[in-house]
Amino acid sequence: MSAGPDLDMDLGPDDLDIVDPDSYLNGFPHATFKRLRDEDPISWWEEHDGGKGFWAVTRYDDLLYVSQHVELFSSAQGVTLEEIEGEDFHLRRNMLEYDPPEHTRYRRLVSKPFSRREVYGYEDGIRDLARSVVLEARELGDRFDYVDRVAKQLPMRMLGRMLGVPDSDGDWLVKQGDALLGNLDPEMTEWAVGYTDTDQFKHIPFRSPAALELYEYAEAQAEQRRACPAHDLISALLAPTIDGECLTDLQFKNLFVLMISAGNDTSRYTMAAGLKALAERPEQFRRLRQACIDRDDQFVERAVEEVLRWGTVTMHFRRTATQDVELGGKLIKEGDKVLTWFTSADYDERHFTDPFNFDIERWPNDHVAFNLRSPHLCLGAQLARMEIKLLFQELLPRLKSVELDGPIERLRSNFICGMKRLPIKVEWA
Ligand code: HEM
Repeated sequence: MSAGPDLDMDLGPDDLDIVDPDSYLNGFPHATFKRLRDEDPISWWEEHDGGKGFWAVTRYDDLLYVSQHVELFSSAQGVTLEEIEGEDFHLRRNMLEYDPPEHTRYRRLVSKPFSRREVYGYEDGIRDLARSVVLEARELGDRFDYVDRVAKQLPMRMLGRMLGVPDSDGDWLVKQGDALLGNLDPEMTEWAVGYTDTDQFKHIPFRSPAALELYEYAEAQAEQRRACPAHDLISALLAPTIDGECLTDLQFKNLFVLMISAGNDTSRYTMAAGLKALAERPEQFRRLRQACIDRDDQFVERAVEEVLRWGTVTMHFRRTATQDVELGGKLIKEGDKVLTWFTSADYDERHFTDPFNFDIERWPNDHVAFNLRSPHLCLGAQLARMEIKLLFQELLPRLKSVELDGPIERLRSNFICGMKRLPIKVEWA
């Protein structure tokens, strides 16, 4: 059983509305989800904007069951709360939104360049990028915003290098990615859903015009690579397999948009969650720093897994029931939306010992931050792991200490759990 949260962590009120994006402005509402896990692990929720409501699956084992039983819980009608149908859905559909066997075929076309072996081929370049981001931060002195100056910088520069796009496009790509995943937050986009009428964009990913601009960008990049293939991710994704199969133009564009959204903010927010946890626990900071200095890769890799669990940035994904099915004593009807709550599952006391203790030496650590035991396991998992590890290895040896230095601001979202600002005070080594 749990020994209770460390640091007298504030778990927030236990009766928040999990649909309302404002409920996440003070961080993930842990007490509310803990109560749901304990008292009503599969609960029904009404939506406020005309959506048809959904089931919230909050325990680890139930989440695995739903993720793995793709014949009962389909991804092919969308994986977020939003209900999109017909041609609109067809146009914006990405690889997350297929079931086997189509999904399996799709995945076969794109998985090779994301394998651990391929990703580690970029290690030296990414280490250099991580080092330059850290050295730029060092120039800022002892106080800065970790999100803006470090966590936001690395993922896009790294992805940009892998994609083979000019470094100078990085900031623009970050802005588009922010507008997509931050589509409920008026600070991230002028087209925030719920604040302004986005109906005209319902056939575009995230109902965001930013996706249109990314489509155009992706088309231009694809054209260049077709004329002149390079040794980069875009060329690899466009190349046909041995069987002569390749992505359609629309599939490529939607995958490109998915990479810019999924490959950017998620890693950024995980890095921020990790640094905050370390700043609050100097003893663990010291141990991890020493492991980085000693080049103890295994120690650092385990710490990365705990950071991923602790931060679990994609709070939920959706499935749709393909038939009436009973789950945890509840009757889920065919066509019902089912949201699996990853962040809740990663703090499930039934699965993790002392889940509210951040412990960089936690092992085993079979968190679901990447939904690794599902057919939709995160394609970018190796990439995200590597960049978090390299950032620790480049940053921590250069830091004697770190502490929080002012109010944290969080993304307004019921989908992505992230910090927009994390002011820190550091002592450089
Ligand atoms: C810490 C960072 C990340 C987290 C927490 C994360 C989380 C996830 C999760 C939970 C899924 C499964 C969705 C589902 O079950 O429906 C997923 C899928 C996916 N992720 Fe990530 N992700 C991260 C980084 C990345 C990166 C860096 C990329 C690419 C550059 C990426 C690309 C994708 C893609 C393409 C899929 C769809 C896979 C499929 O449907 O087969 N992700 N991610």
